[in-house]
Amino acid sequence: MAKRKKQSAKRSGGKSSRAKSTSTRRRSAAPAQQDAIALLKADHRQVEEWFEQFESSRSEGKKQNLAACICQALKVHTQIEEEIFYPAFLEATEEEDIHHEAAVEHDGAKKLIAAIEGSGPSDDYYDARVKVLSEMIKHHVNEEEKRDGMFAKARQSEMDLEALGQTLAARKAELMSGGGMGGEGS
Ligand SMILES: [Fe+2]
Ligand SMILES: [Fe+2]
Repeated sequence: MAKRKKQSAKRSGGKSSRAKSTSTRRRSAAPAQQDAIALLKADHRQVEEWFEQFESSRSEGKKQNLAACICQALKVHTQIEEEIFYPAFLEATEEEDIHHEAAVEHDGAKKLIAAIEGSGPSDDYYDARVKVLSEMIKHHVNEEEKRDGMFAKARQSEMDLEALGQTLAARKAELMSGGGMGGEGS
């Protein structure tokens, strides 16, 4: 098989020269072009990695840094889901049970996030809070990603996941740079 090379030879008939040898199209410049589900899953993977690092870490400073990253990422993630992805999902699928349970799980996670942010590694309950948060998130992520879960149903629906991906990415960037994060837990 595969006599790939020949391809472009014919093209320019007699008039040699012009044949630009761009064999592959330049297309990949923007790694930010993820569809909505790819973007949200990438967030999940990132946070999972930080939870693992937290668990194996001994240093209080490192733990605090990781917890800060986790909390920040989860706040942004839950917010963009709630503002953009979840409403679009509910509208497209009318899957109220899945949607409402996810929203309630977010509320639970946010309380714990606020408690973690309001304490530090010297607090007796700090590690326990991070551990329980990781378990809550693991459960929640599974609900979103499992077969027949929210993301699978979103894929089967009419949702425009490409466009939503762009909206999510833009909002995420805005929130990460400090624009309009709602609800500082005090
Ligand atoms: Fe999520
Ligand atoms: Fe979620």
